[in-house]
Amino acid sequence: MSTISLSVPDRMRQTAEAVEARLTVLLAETPGVDEIARPERLLAAMRHAVLNGGKRFRPFLVMESAALFDGNRDAALTVGAALECLHCYSLVHDDLPAMDDDDLRRGKPTVHIAYDEATAILAGDSLQTLAFDIISDPALPIEPIRQVALVRALARAAGIGGMAGGQALDLAAELQAPDEAGIRELQAMKTGALIRFACEAGAILAGASDSDRATLRRFGEVIGLAFQLADDVLDITADAAVMGKATGKDAGRGKGTLVGLHGLDWARQRLDGLVEEARALLLPYGARGSVLAEAAHFVAVRES
Ligand code: IPE
Ligand code: IPE
Ligand code: MG
Ligand code: MG
Ligand code: MG
Repeated sequence: MSTISLSVPDRMRQTAEAVEARLTVLLAETPGVDEIARPERLLAAMRHAVLNGGKRFRPFLVMESAALFDGNRDAALTVGAALECLHCYSLVHDDLPAMDDDDLRRGKPTVHIAYDEATAILAGDSLQTLAFDIISDPALPIEPIRQVALVRALARAAGIGGMAGGQALDLAAELQAPDEAGIRELQAMKTGALIRFACEAGAILAGASDSDRATLRRFGEVIGLAFQLADDVLDITADAAVMGKATGKDAGRGKGTLVGLHGLDWARQRLDGLVEEARALLLPYGARGSVLAEAAHFVAVRES
């Protein structure tokens, strides 16, 4: 592939641009087949939630895990775009007054501030179903049995046993502080599950072996934990202006975080340990695994 020689940050930028372009098409005004209409205000809220300069880290993971097994690039981009819609839905709902009650996201007013709460709820609902619409497109160049596996894996990652369940545990933790195992579980669910899906999805769509699929799944679990740990560190150490979202909130709300339990120094050491663990999983792939290894490092050193 011609892009193989790009540096990892350049590769991430290139992927983010391709994802943005694909999402722009998917969120066009024209209704899709069997859609009756796309109400203007709801569509505007969905576009506000999605087309706004996120890092697009999850689509990057899908594309790079697919590339590791010579998967179809366009199929990976489509699956990545679907996952980004699901992720953006989770952010819109996470920011609602009934959840984290945040006003700023990706440097802009959150959807319920820019529009209203009902529209934000419906924009989230519609982004979630759009994700499944995109990933189940029969025109995708993915073997049908693998496509069904992808749809099911996304459902499992998003639902009660994954992101949504983790969000429920996150809110419950504000009322009754969980122990360390409880925090790990809620983080593995609320954030880890979608990141695990991102890594496993590339292996699934590329037709990788069961053992490669399991390795990528484990890689995703480990960097998923690291990703939320870094988010919790940044909540304490970073500026809202750089993050594009409010910081310094977790402690005040009594969020169940490992940083709250063990402190920043411990968290930074643990982050390094998780990155090493993730990178070790890629050793069997030699130089081909270097982009994902670098992505694991990015999780720990990111500043936004
Ligand atoms: C934020 O995710 C929510 C968490 C799971 C910590 P990102 O840090 O990937 O946010 P965007 O997509 O770049 O805005
Ligand atoms: C977000 O966790 C997890 C999901 C959106 C599923 P946070 O609540 O810590 O994310 P931010 O800090 O608001 O982005
Ligand atoms: Mg939250
Ligand atoms: Mg939040
Ligand atoms: Mg956070």
